[in-house]
Amino acid sequence: MNAVARSARYAVIGNPVAHSKSPQIHARFAAQTGQGLTYERLLAPLDGFAATVREFIRQGARGANVTVPFKLEAHAMADRLSERARAAGAVNTLKFEADGILGDNTDGVGMVTDIVRNAGFAMAGKRILLLGAGGAARGVLLPILSENPLEVVIANRTQAKALELVQRFDAHRGTFCGALRASEFSNLQGNFDIVINATSASLAAEVPPVPPAVLGPHALAYDMMYAGQPTVFMRFAAGHGAAVRDGLGMLVEQAAESFYIWRGVRPETAQIYAELRQLA
Ligand code: ATR
Repeated sequence: MNAVARSARYAVIGNPVAHSKSPQIHARFAAQTGQGLTYERLLAPLDGFAATVREFIRQGARGANVTVPFKLEAHAMADRLSERARAAGAVNTLKFEADGILGDNTDGVGMVTDIVRNAGFAMAGKRILLLGAGGAARGVLLPILSENPLEVVIANRTQAKALELVQRFDAHRGTFCGALRASEFSNLQGNFDIVINATSASLAAEVPPVPPAVLGPHALAYDMMYAGQPTVFMRFAAGHGAAVRDGLGMLVEQAAESFYIWRGVRPETAQIYAELRQLA
């Protein structure tokens, strides 16, 4: 039997998927930890996600990452969900087990690890502003609350969606002691220690219309998007004195958490982050 035949098979499933950096990241993790695995890109037809997963399982695959636009379908397809995947309402990591499919979501913990450990900004006891109330915001909320911040304010262009998110996470009150509330952009009061942009505004080169005073004197402004150049949100925040960071570290850390779920080994992330940063 050759090495590839012995290897456990994984993939990232999406549409489109050609741009995904996940194969590169997981190949690096596998080499670093000595795990025998292969990791490929799988383009699923827009109406064929479940069939693609079933066929991949039939071929003996052990797990998959799921990206746009299939994270909700992956959530629906899982036989079992982690608490954070249930809270997120979306799944980015599937583990194929003998008795069914486990669905997990590593996006939120990936972002929190990047902010707390890599950027060195603690969330415990801090004021956190989350901009946006779509899937990206929902996906990171439980891991943020689990850090026990003093206050989390969700601000969104469509106020009703921010309120809905606050109500949904009321069920997780026991997770943290702080306050969780919704606000309009223009009504934001005081300043925050960490401001997270979970809107898709950066894609349109727009900045959510927040008062610059939301950025505290030593604030971190974090954009979940990343690009070769700083996003408009990062330029806005840097212009008002904040430290800024994009979502490249989140990408690497969510991959590391998926790798840990699959293989039980936690890869080191600094080197691949530095390499991807140079290529970006
Ligand atoms: P995602 O999965 O990326 O979160 P989504 O669920 O479509 O995608 O949510 C997009 C988020 O970005 C929403 O919070 C959206 O605000 P609305 O709920 O009002 O639509 C926000 N958003 C998109 N473009 C924006 C812009 N130009 N300014 C401010 N917020 C924006």
